[in-house]
Amino acid sequence: MNIAVVGHGNVGGTLARNWAKAGHQVVVGARNPDDEKLKPLAEVGVMISSLEDAVNGSEVILVATPPQIAEDLSRQFGDVSGKIIIDATNSVRTKPDPYPTAFHAFLDLTSAKVVKSFNTTGFENMQDPQYGEYRLEMFMAGEDDEAKEVARNLAKDCGFEDCIDFGGSDKVELLEKFALSWINLAIMQGEGRNIGFKLLRR
Ligand SMILES: NC(=O)c1ccc[n+]([C@@H]2O[C@H](COP(=O)([O-])OP(=O)(O)OC[C@H]3O[C@@H](n4cnc5c(N)ncnc54)[C@H](OP(=O)(O)O)[C@@H]3O)[C@@H](O)[C@H]2O)c1
Repeated sequence: MNIAVVGHGNVGGTLARNWAKAGHQVVVGARNPDDEKLKPLAEVGVMISSLEDAVNGSEVILVATPPQIAEDLSRQFGDVSGKIIIDATNSVRTKPDPYPTAFHAFLDLTSAKVVKSFNTTGFENMQDPQYGEYRLEMFMAGEDDEAKEVARNLAKDCGFEDCIDFGGSDKVELLEKFALSWINLAIMQGEGRNIGFKLLRR
């Protein structure tokens, strides 16, 4: 797929690498395409361009920025009808007022198919979801089945066992709370970032 990655830090940088390695055409849409921090990504086959060019040429847009810029991003994206936005942000410290999450802002301000995913675990687990014999799952929420199918396949491309459907748009805030639960255990309760949630069934 042609994937635009907006926000190339811990999460965006990791996913851009994973997806380029899996054979996707990945382009980072950067505020400053000459940023030295982008060189390692270019070396592994990730293309770098302006945000507008990256979005224009892509079917899928992964957003991994601070959540409060969702409204600005929606404006900069322009017409994204038919495209899929994957919102990986968490409104933990800041939120995109008046919206509770960036997902809600993208849903209201763009005509893209929006899915919340790649937000529930640390970026280290996106680099390597394998724990001994187990592989972690990713999670997703939203109404759009096509966007969910794409998120599921992209999660599998990162090595996740699956991408578990957490429900519709009404479950997006719960999915952010699930992310906060991981942050609570990993950071506040001192478990460390090498922990992950696994869904067991019988
Ligand atoms: N860290 C995690 O493990 C983790 C896990 C799941 C979800 N999340 C969520 O994912 C999001 C990103 O987290 P992160 O840890 O990857 O952050 P990060 O490493 O700080 O990267 C943030 C990225 O956003 C870009 N950015 C910031 N302000 C921008 C603006 N006004 N316009 C365009 N780009 C802008 C930054 O670009 P510059 O380099 O140009 O500043 C940078 O590439 C957050 O919402 C976070 O809650 C994080």
